[in-house]
Amino acid sequence: MLATARTFTLDGISARPVRVEVDVHRGLPGFAIVGLPDAAVREARERVRAALVNCGFEFPLRRIVVNLAPASLRKAGPGMDLAIAAALLSASGQLEWEALSQVALAGELALDGSTRPVNGALAIAEAAREGGAEAIVLPAENAPEAALAEGIDVVSLDGLGRLPALATGEWEPERPEALPLQLGAPAGAPDLADLRGQPHLRHALEVAAAGGHSLLMIGPPGAGKSLAASRLPSILPPLASVEALEVARIASACGRLGGATPGGRPFRAPHHTISPAGLIGGGTPPRPGEATLAHRGVLFLDELCEFRRDSLEALRAPLESGEVSIARAGSRRSLPCRFMLIAAANPCPCGRGEADPDCSCAPVSVQRYQGRLSGALADRIDILAAVRQPSAAEIGGGEGESSADVRERVIAARERQERRLGPGRCNAEMTPGEARECALRPQAGALLAELYARQRLSGRAHDRALRLAQTIADLAGADSIGEDQMAQALQLRRRDRG
Ligand SMILES: Nc1ncnc2c1ncn2[C@@H]1O[C@H](COP(=O)(O)OP(=O)(O)O)[C@@H](O)[C@H]1O
Ligand SMILES: [Mg+2]
Repeated sequence: MLATARTFTLDGISARPVRVEVDVHRGLPGFAIVGLPDAAVREARERVRAALVNCGFEFPLRRIVVNLAPASLRKAGPGMDLAIAAALLSASGQLEWEALSQVALAGELALDGSTRPVNGALAIAEAAREGGAEAIVLPAENAPEAALAEGIDVVSLDGLGRLPALATGEWEPERPEALPLQLGAPAGAPDLADLRGQPHLRHALEVAAAGGHSLLMIGPPGAGKSLAASRLPSILPPLASVEALEVARIASACGRLGGATPGGRPFRAPHHTISPAGLIGGGTPPRPGEATLAHRGVLFLDELCEFRRDSLEALRAPLESGEVSIARAGSRRSLPCRFMLIAAANPCPCGRGEADPDCSCAPVSVQRYQGRLSGALADRIDILAAVRQPSAAEIGGGEGESSADVRERVIAARERQERRLGPGRCNAEMTPGEARECALRPQAGALLAELYARQRLSGRAHDRALRLAQTIADLAGADSIGEDQMAQALQLRRRDRG
């Protein structure tokens, strides 16, 4: 007897359809799985056998062949257990389910036949809908996230033993509630009011948030760089619901949803020992890296100079294109990664800065360090903020402006950008052509031209100044860029404020 069932294998953050074909016929008892299974898929044999028996079904003592089609696609993970078990029950005459070929199933099986959650349930439900399935059967833990996908019935199944009743319609499963999407920062998230003093840094943070610009903070240890970075998500505009769904889809594929959608924009701060694959993703099938986990949020690289050179190099292209492209033999996968890059670094190896009389660094080592700093992505970063130690009066003084107040201005500035550039876009993403079209008052243009000639700016620096000036004008609610706004933009690129 032959039976088929539909399931999925996770590839990056998307699910690819897999057809499970099970053939049970006479011969020496055996159980083979073919069709490029990985070790976890092959081990389904043991789980399925035990689950069947422990749920009171019979494990057919015949020759069983499971084929996973298409045979050219690598299948990974334990998520195909449920579909294999269902098709095997059907092929051995223990499950009469006419609709089996119209539903999709995904789930891992425990030895007692209960279901265990799989990664990527949201992507799986969406792929099932695209593939025209009527329903997707998933473990109970996965059902709320799968229900985020609209337009498909989600059936929450707690164990294999329920399948016959589901097939005959005796058991009508309840429709699971979809997880609520949280668009804004969760209550109790760290607030920018904690950052005392540092007006220059605050301004840089606000401009970065308003235009989606990347930011590098350079200053001595303990000046509040990490503190400031961790407050950034709280001043960013709330996610649009499509964006929140993208964030949830990525979290789901990495198995990080855990019963709740992440609140607001992600904030990822990987350690500096991270490998290129850890940062941008890799492996077969490709696993998302930190850059993808930071999609629509913030990627914070603390101690930028300590990061491996190859890791930072790997980040360059994704930073500009907003996606990671992973080449595999015969195919190319891309993972989304539109994040804001925030980095922090010490000014010299000892961290005090050359201007400090206590700095004991030899000039050559400072030079080498700064060479590393400018090699390390610094030319791709829009804003350079020099941070100094807060004074006693500042650190002992009152709280700074709260995140809610700053966020209001940021949102207003983003609305102006969306009206000009289109929904979801910000100034940092302006193409060179769009940057040239910014409304520039003559004095502002003259200031930029003068500096361009005097400091021999690069073409990239020229466009970057335009983008920054546009963001500052948007924050001020101005229709064109004035001289003062251009001067502020140029100031945000100066490492030393003198
Ligand atoms: N400007 C500041 N306002 C409030 N607290 C500060 C400030 N700067 C430093 N601190 C305190 O010092 C600690 C260390 O700051 P941190 O952000 O880790 O410094 P950095 O990353 O620059 O080395 C913070 O947790 C905070 O308690
Ligand atoms: Mg720090």
